[in-house]
Amino acid sequence: MQTIELDRPVTADDAILWENDALLLLDQRLLPRRERFVLCEDAADTAEAIRAMVVRGAPAIGVTAAYGVVLAARDAWKRRGSEWKRALAEPLALLAGARPTAVNLGWALKRMEALVSLLPESADPEPALLEEARLIHAKDVAANRAMGEHGASLIGSRTALITHCNAGALATGGYGTALGVIRSAHARGLVEHVYADETRPWLQGARLTAWELVRDDIPVSLLVDGAAAARMAAGGIGWVVVGSDRIAANGDVANKIGTYALALAARAHGVKFMVAAPTSTIDMNCPDGASIPIETRAAEEVLHCIDVPVAAEGAGAWNPVFDVTPAELVDAIVTERGVVESPDTRKLAEHMGKT
Ligand code: MRU
Repeated sequence: MQTIELDRPVTADDAILWENDALLLLDQRLLPRRERFVLCEDAADTAEAIRAMVVRGAPAIGVTAAYGVVLAARDAWKRRGSEWKRALAEPLALLAGARPTAVNLGWALKRMEALVSLLPESADPEPALLEEARLIHAKDVAANRAMGEHGASLIGSRTALITHCNAGALATGGYGTALGVIRSAHARGLVEHVYADETRPWLQGARLTAWELVRDDIPVSLLVDGAAAARMAAGGIGWVVVGSDRIAANGDVANKIGTYALALAARAHGVKFMVAAPTSTIDMNCPDGASIPIETRAAEEVLHCIDVPVAAEGAGAWNPVFDVTPAELVDAIVTERGVVESPDTRKLAEHMGKT
């Protein structure tokens, strides 16, 4: 895939760009050292960028997939004219299979497919699909801003926070889910300090969350993942704030591996645990956490640290990249619609308007 640099300063809100009829993804594997963009020319490029983690984070994956459908339709229209809908099955399947845990991927594809089914076969589908993808993108940013305000309202007084992985502008359409809450809380003067877990093996906390917070002048210190419990024991932490890749109907939360341990430690230390995610992350078809598909990635990701082999030769690795935090450990789920405290099946159904 072709890569390019922009001739203007890059911000965290530039993670997904549609510019000059092209999809540009800020290559998050290179941050914070280099700000380069991968140019996606078709659905195969887009699916590969999602699989390879050029772009990552559940909502960002969903927005990217929506633009991937635009590219697929452009290609199908060019090659097959009025038979373009039939040519979409293969690229859509590629996009759907790119990563399994983030439900926003399937959610965005479903929305795009619903529009496909309404479009005429005789006209170029790109303008209408692009408008829909842009809408999904813009709505995600708006949801994050609303969620930020709801989440900040829960943080009663100035305190220190812990976050895990990267649930910021880079992981979403912009502003962020967990980092959206932190940004809004910071604007209200409620953030004493942010502790960001470095988040092995991809180091999203060290490379991405720290990059975003430093640029926003929000004080941040990194923790090795195993230090979070000790930091809680030392006192002064009011909340853990994380995002999610999929929330089951009973309130169980899938998020980056290590989130479950963080929730256990939080409960043991009387620290509150908040999950910020848009309603597009809530999967009412998944009854509980056990039915959430958990992605396992290559052992090499654990055996190496940023491409440098670090493990004893011959050792294997177990590398599930998400875990499930049971609803009982979650004090609040915050979406663009508001707050669900101590979530359970009934409360989430009500929140989703399914009662
Ligand atoms: O493997 P990643 O980097 O895609 O995992 C991302 C996370 O687990 C985030 O915390 C989650 O998607 C929430 S992002 C708003």
